[in-house]
Amino acid sequence: MKDQIEATQTEALARIEAVADIRSLEDARVGILGKQGSLTKLSAGMRDVPKEEKAEVGQLLNAARQAITGALEGKKEALQSEADAKALAGIDLTLPARSLHTGSLHPLTLIRDEAVGILRRMGFALADGPEIEDEFHCFDALNTPADHPARNEKDTFYFDSGKLLRTHTSSVQVRTMEAEAPPIRIIAPGSAYRRDEIDATHLSVFNQLEGLYVDTDVSLGDLKGTLEYFFHELFGSATEVRFRPHFFPFTEPSFEIDVKLHAKGQAPKWIEVAGCGMVDPAVFDAIGASRNDDAYSPEKVTGFAFGMGLDRLAMIRWGIKDIRLLIENDTRFLKQFA
Ligand code: PHE
Repeated sequence: MKDQIEATQTEALARIEAVADIRSLEDARVGILGKQGSLTKLSAGMRDVPKEEKAEVGQLLNAARQAITGALEGKKEALQSEADAKALAGIDLTLPARSLHTGSLHPLTLIRDEAVGILRRMGFALADGPEIEDEFHCFDALNTPADHPARNEKDTFYFDSGKLLRTHTSSVQVRTMEAEAPPIRIIAPGSAYRRDEIDATHLSVFNQLEGLYVDTDVSLGDLKGTLEYFFHELFGSATEVRFRPHFFPFTEPSFEIDVKLHAKGQAPKWIEVAGCGMVDPAVFDAIGASRNDDAYSPEKVTGFAFGMGLDRLAMIRWGIKDIRLLIENDTRFLKQFA
């Protein structure tokens, strides 16, 4: 038995030594220590060893097992580092690394998030509405009569179904008031669509940020203070903001707001960024009829609304001369905002 153990060990160690790759090493391990392995079979012979020799033979078996296991591990490590060295051969670790291209947010997203952040701090909550609208929410409920030029087929994208692509985000005013009783203070950023001739300041798909505040005793002073504060937060406290009297069917009185644009290489000029005004009582009446209650009775509540062009805000913030840069996705332009 002792000789057998010695012979098996010698043979096993020689076999391990001769192995040239990891897979043959595994075969060797199974051939020696596996269920049918040479050493395993030998260990089974312990049963027939006389009592007085058992201790000694057992020790020999253990020693053989240890020697073999050690040799297997040693060989495995040697083969592994050989393979690693082969894989690394020919790689020049002194070469400069390939640079990673990181993405960044689009300027429109940046300005929208910033504008939303300012207004949320002032207590406005986000609201939303569909871009495919019906005439009621886009026009009728906003006191915009059938013969108003904004409804003209030349100005608005109509579907055969009679639905349309909303021409402004003011439709969200209507949807919010239909769903919720006052007081409400909401903002709704989103796309709007018009059949505008595309030029340096107009796109047929553009982005607006709507606002609506309805409560008891909301005044024109609240409107002016809110929006002046907003533009000073967004563009800096030295920014010049002016309110010009204007007309919108759904506000009375109404104003357009201009902010002075300082674009590189251009004389500073006023650029129109928003429309606003006090909610026209006719709008509250339309909401009352739609809700079938008097929650928005013009006797009880007043409100102000505004709608600004997010694209224009981005142009002012970064002195962008042509609005088309915002949709061309030219990375030479976009990467300046990374
Ligand atoms: N909806 C108007 C526009 O698109 C802007 C506006 C919104 C004016 C709210 C007054 C109040 O031009």
